[in-house]
Amino acid sequence: MSRRFLLTTLLCFSLSLFLQDISMNILNKLGIGSSKQTSMDHPSPIAQGPDDDAPAPGNQFAQFGAGCFWSVELAYQRVTGVTQTEVGYSQGITHNPSYEDACSGTTNHTEVVRVQYDPKVCSYESLLDLFWSRHDPTTLNRQGNDVGTQYRSGIYFYNSEQEKLARESLERHQQQVDRKIVTEILPAKKFYRAEEHNQQYLSKGGRFGLKQSSAKGCNDPIRCYG
Ligand SMILES: *[C@@H]1O[C@H](CO)[C@@H](O)[C@H](O)[C@H]1NC(C)=O
Repeated sequence: MSRRFLLTTLLCFSLSLFLQDISMNILNKLGIGSSKQTSMDHPSPIAQGPDDDAPAPGNQFAQFGAGCFWSVELAYQRVTGVTQTEVGYSQGITHNPSYEDACSGTTNHTEVVRVQYDPKVCSYESLLDLFWSRHDPTTLNRQGNDVGTQYRSGIYFYNSEQEKLARESLERHQQQVDRKIVTEILPAKKFYRAEEHNQQYLSKGGRFGLKQSSAKGCNDPIRCYG
């Protein structure tokens, strides 16, 4: 093999690597890279932007992360004044994450419930009380056997009033627990609705086809996985 041939081959090879890198970068910037290509190295500014969906007239949004979103959603479905609930992924760095992306722990998304409520019927404080009662806010990135950053405890606020109430609520709740609360309180970011089968999962029957009541005011114990 001549030296010249070797050099040309080497040049072609590096050029192709370079082009591949550029095209992957563009795909990811556009937010259409496949899940294999999305990683901490290719964050999307869209994912870090605010949740700009609009709630129904007269309603407000709230977002909570308290471990596996199935049981958290059912708890909020039962609240009078809550007009809609959805489960999804938020606070991560990649656009349009799938369940697998979110669970891989590499995209930094957290499982959240987005609650739409009528503030004339139900106060934000009562939603916060329910949030504390539904999980252990002192275990970092963990709820029981569910371990990972997607299970972190978080309150994601939509305005400064919610932020203030959330911080005061945390202070009050801290008086009642021994260990330090690790709940993060951050602005709500873009909400990525989860796959349809994850929506209202437990009231639809969960794993075993045993429907759990989502009736307003229902106090039946919640089976977290069905
Ligand atoms: C992931 O989320 C955690 C908790 O909000 C944050 O402290 C951390 O900086 C995030 N990491 C990246 C790479 O965005």
